[in-house]
Amino acid sequence: MKITIDEKIYDIDIEDTNTPLLWVLRDNLNLTGTKFGCGVGQCGACTVLVDGEAIRACSTAISSLENKKITTIETTEDKTVQKLQKFWIQEDVVQCGYCQSGQIMNAAGLLKANPKPSDSEILSSMNGNICRCGTYNKIKTAIKAARAEV
Ligand code: FES
Ligand code: FES
Repeated sequence: MKITIDEKIYDIDIEDTNTPLLWVLRDNLNLTGTKFGCGVGQCGACTVLVDGEAIRACSTAISSLENKKITTIETTEDKTVQKLQKFWIQEDVVQCGYCQSGQIMNAAGLLKANPKPSDSEILSSMNGNICRCGTYNKIKTAIKAARAEV
């Protein structure tokens, strides 16, 4: 089947089309910027965009993604993701870094749906993305800085 990831079309040969996107990204296509955390939809580490909306790649079957546009942290095209990356660096958000591609992609989904989220909308939208290093305050500061630039 053919899937579009970061503006490129991949023709993947996969027997079980119930395989989650995360496994296809990491194991079939070696796109390892998207992280495996819990594997069961609980941590947000695997977040990517599908048609601009944040979804969890560990819980999304590849069969549901034909003719959809998948965007990952490895995009070189998506302006919202790039803007967030700029503020992530400026605010020095990252500690170990493991959760951060999912954090940025979830924030990108938020800003695409709602370019000027309130502080409480930022909090509720980011609530399900876990960071074991506790970078939550810096993540919020970076999203607010990106929000101000829209
Ligand atoms: S790895 Fe997908 S939500 Fe945790
Ligand atoms: S920066 Fe380490 S888990 Fe978030």
